[in-house]
Parts: sequence; structure tokens; C-alpha cells
Amino acid sequence: MSIFEINPDIRQAHTLSSEFYTNEKYFEQSKEKIFSRSWHLVDCFDDSVNLRPVNILETPILISNSNGEINCFSNVCTHRGAILVEENCNTNGIRCRYHGRRFDLQGKFLSMPEFENVENFPSEKDDLPQIPFGVWANFIFASLNPFATLDEFLAEMKQTVQPLKKSRLTAIKDYEVNAHWALYCENYLEGFHVPFVHQGLNSVIDYGTYTTETFRFSSLQTAFDDNGELAAHYFFIFPNLMFNFYPWGISVNIVKPITPSKTTVTYLTFVSDESKLGTGAGADLETVELEDQAVVESVQRGIRSRFYDSGRYSPTREQGTHHFHRLICEFMS
Ligand code: FES
Ligand SMILES: [Fe+2]
Repeated sequence: MSIFEINPDIRQAHTLSSEFYTNEKYFEQSKEKIFSRSWHLVDCFDDSVNLRPVNILETPILISNSNGEINCFSNVCTHRGAILVEENCNTNGIRCRYHGRRFDLQGKFLSMPEFENVENFPSEKDDLPQIPFGVWANFIFASLNPFATLDEFLAEMKQTVQPLKKSRLTAIKDYEVNAHWALYCENYLEGFHVPFVHQGLNSVIDYGTYTTETFRFSSLQTAFDDNGELAAHYFFIFPNLMFNFYPWGISVNIVKPITPSKTTVTYLTFVSDESKLGTGAGADLETVELEDQAVVESVQRGIRSRFYDSGRYSPTREQGTHHFHRLICEFMS
């Protein structure tokens, strides 16, 4: 029997089996079945360079920006497979350093030395394969093999929040977490633990009015402060993107699976109103992060126990985690 079945009725459901997190086989499968089919945040508009190499899983891709025209294509030379671009750069075109094949900034093949007598050459196969991508506000997303369109993944976030075009990227920070990527995400997806784990955060939000809404590929948690003012919108885009909207701007967290028990979480900070920095629910994200890591790493040790397999959900406080587990099952099946 498959472990990827979660009852749609949260009152009857049991949580995802711990085998999903501990079995290396499922970790590998989740890269293909979940991560290659979802949308990755690959760039935040930055005019300082026009060619940017990034990896989605182990797939090297290039984001090019030629006078505002964005393109996204493979970063592997179509001759014998060398990586074309290793670093961010400003350039008019791409030249492979191995044997000199040239491409333009749309990924089209331009020229190749010593190939005069080659038959049926060049063909479309000599262009760099295009990668599906989309843009929202400052953000560029790409997907290797999308399960659904970017619009379907982002629809509710786009309707709810204003893209802060003027916000500046002010900081990038990586956190290493000794836990499975999904444990990190499912902790984020419930405010249930806030009064237990985050005393500081709990003192500035009103736990009683905290809400969770679930959508097709995303969910939204909303926190208000004691005066009934909006403290934060926490948007989660399946499977690994967190967009946290605070009065001062946006904190974006990207959860990157490294091994079944290691995850890197990248924090991108975009400030739009400096006067509000240091106040409210987004005042001290570092403390909240370290508090979360400690419980998530504790769960990582706990789920390996022979005496634990799965648990139950709170119908009032764990809708986001239930929804996340159901999406994992849908993609893994
Ligand atoms: S691998 Fe790029 S030109 Fe040969
Ligand atoms: Fe937390």
C-alpha cells in the first residue's frame, strides 16, 4: 500500500508517514516528482548583470536580460556538454570556452568553428533548450517541467498582495538546517507552535485571530497585532517558497533540499519602508528562525525512532500542514 494517501477530511486524517522523510529513495523521487515540476524563484531583477547562471536541482540554466527582455535556457553547450557560463556577467553573447561555439542572448546558435562539412547543421538541436519561466514583480521563476502554470501557483498571492516594485534587496543570508526540507516547510505552515516556541513573536501577534487559508498550490497565514492591524501575510507556494509580507517589506525564504537530513534555507530581504524595520511580527526574524530550527531538528531526530510513524492534525490549527502533505501525496503518486 502506498504511503502517499492522506485523508482529505482533516478530522480523520493521519499525518504523512515518517518513511517519506527517512527513506533515501523518496528523497530522490521527490526531486523529480516534486521539485522538477514546480516553480523555482531563480532571480530578482537586478540590472547590474545581464547573464546569470543558476541551478535548478542539478540542472544548470541561464537567465538572460537583454534590455529588459528576459530569457531562460539551458547553460550546457549543445556540442559536447560544457557548462557555458560559470559566473554572473555582462556580455553581448555567449561563447563556449571549450571549442568556441557561439550563442546569442536568446539561446540561439550563432556559429561554430571547423564545422563547415557537417551535414544537416546547424539544426534546432544546436540552439540552447528553452526553460519555461515567468515574472511577477521583482521575481523571476523557472520550472523544468511544470505541473501547472506559474499563474496557477501564484494566483491567490497575486490577488492578495501588492508587488512591491520599489523594494530593494538589502540582504541575502543562508541558514543550514539539519533536517529534511519538508519538516522545515510543515513547521512554517502552522502557527500552532507560536505560543510554545516563539515567545517574542507571540507577544506581538494576536494568536486568537491568526488564520490559515489553503488554495490549489499555495496557502496563506495571516497574523494581526493586538490592535487588529495586519502584522503579516505568510504566503507559501508549494513546495518550497515562502513570501512573508510585513509592514516594512518582504522576506522571502527559499527551502533547498540538500540531503534527506540537510536543508539550506536562503533568506532574501526586500525593504520598502525603512521606518517600520524592527517593529512587529517581522522585527526579529533571526531569533524566530533559530527557534524554528531547534524544533525542526528535534523532529528530525524524533521521526527516526522506531516508535513513531505518524500523528494526527489539529483541525483548527494545522490546515496548512495537512494541505502541504496532501500536495506531497498528489505529486509523489
Ligand atoms: S563543448 Fe562547447 S564548443 Fe565544444
Ligand atoms: Fe515558527
